[in-house]
Amino acid sequence: MRELLPPPVAVVVAGPADFTGELLEAERACLGERAVESRRRDFTAGRVCARRAIAALGLDPVPVPSAPDRSPAWPVDVVGTITHTKGYCAAAAARADEVRSVGMDAEQHKILDAGVRRLILRKEEVEHCGRLPTGVSWPALIFSAKETVYKVWHPVVGTWLDFQDALVEIDPDTGSWVARISPAKVEAAREKVTDPPSVITGRFTVDAGLVRTAAVLPHR
Ligand SMILES: CC(C)(COP(=O)(O)OP(=O)(O)OC[C@H]1O[C@@H](n2cnc3c(N)ncnc32)[C@H](O)[C@@H]1OP(=O)(O)O)[C@@H](O)C(=O)NCCC(=O)NCCS
Repeated sequence: MRELLPPPVAVVVAGPADFTGELLEAERACLGERAVESRRRDFTAGRVCARRAIAALGLDPVPVPSAPDRSPAWPVDVVGTITHTKGYCAAAAARADEVRSVGMDAEQHKILDAGVRRLILRKEEVEHCGRLPTGVSWPALIFSAKETVYKVWHPVVGTWLDFQDALVEIDPDTGSWVARISPAKVEAAREKVTDPPSVITGRFTVDAGLVRTAAVLPHR
C-alpha cells in the first residue's frame, strides 16, 4: 500500500501483533461487546494502524471511533482510510489541508462468481476486462477500485454510491486506474458539496494473493 499513495499520506500496514493490540476506550465502545473474534482482531488492527498513521503526521494519536454510519471518525484535521481482509490490514492518514480525501482497499485475488460480477461491473467494464492481459482477476480489481472510490467519495459528499455509479478503466502497464462517476450522481451531489469529484484516479498492485487499490483526491 505504501507504494500506491503519494508522500503526504502516511501508510501503516499491520504486523501480526497489531491484531491483538490495545483499543482505546472510545474505540472499544464502537466495536461492541458481542463482536466475534475475527471482527475484534480486524477492528483492533485497523485502529492500531490508524493511530500510528496519525502519529506519523506529527499529530497526537487520538482515538479513531466509528461514526453511526460505520465510517471511521478521524480527527477534524485528518483524512484517512482503513482496510482489512483475512490477515491483512492497513490504514492511511493525511493532513486535511494537504489532501481532500484518501481511500484504499485490499481484497483476496480470486475469480468472482457470475452473480457478483453482474452486481459490480458495467457492460463497458466487462468488455474492458476482456481486452486486458490474462493472469489477473480484473473483475476483483475493479471491485476493489470501486470500494476505494466509495471510501474517497463518502467522506467528501456523504452520500451512497452504487457499484453501477462508477466506470473504472484500468491501465495494466502503469498500475493505475481511473473511475468516472456517473454525471447524474455528480449532479445530485452538488446539493451536498459545491464541487463533488467526478473523476477519481488511483493505483493498484496484485501480489501475495491480494489485490490492493488506493486513491487520493487532491484539493481543487
Ligand atoms: C464500506 C465498504 C466500502 C467497506 O469495504 P470492505 O471491502 O467491505 O471492507 P474493508 O475492510 O476494505 O473496509 C472496511 C473499513 O471501511 C471503513 N468504512 C466503512 N464505511 C465507510 C464509509 N462510508 N466511508 C469511508 N470508509 C468507510 C471502515 O473503517 C471499515 O473498517 P472498520 O469497520 O474496522 O472501521 C463496503 O462494505 C461497502 O459498503 N461497499 C458498498 C459501497 C460501494 O463500495 N460502492 C461502490 C461505489 S463505485
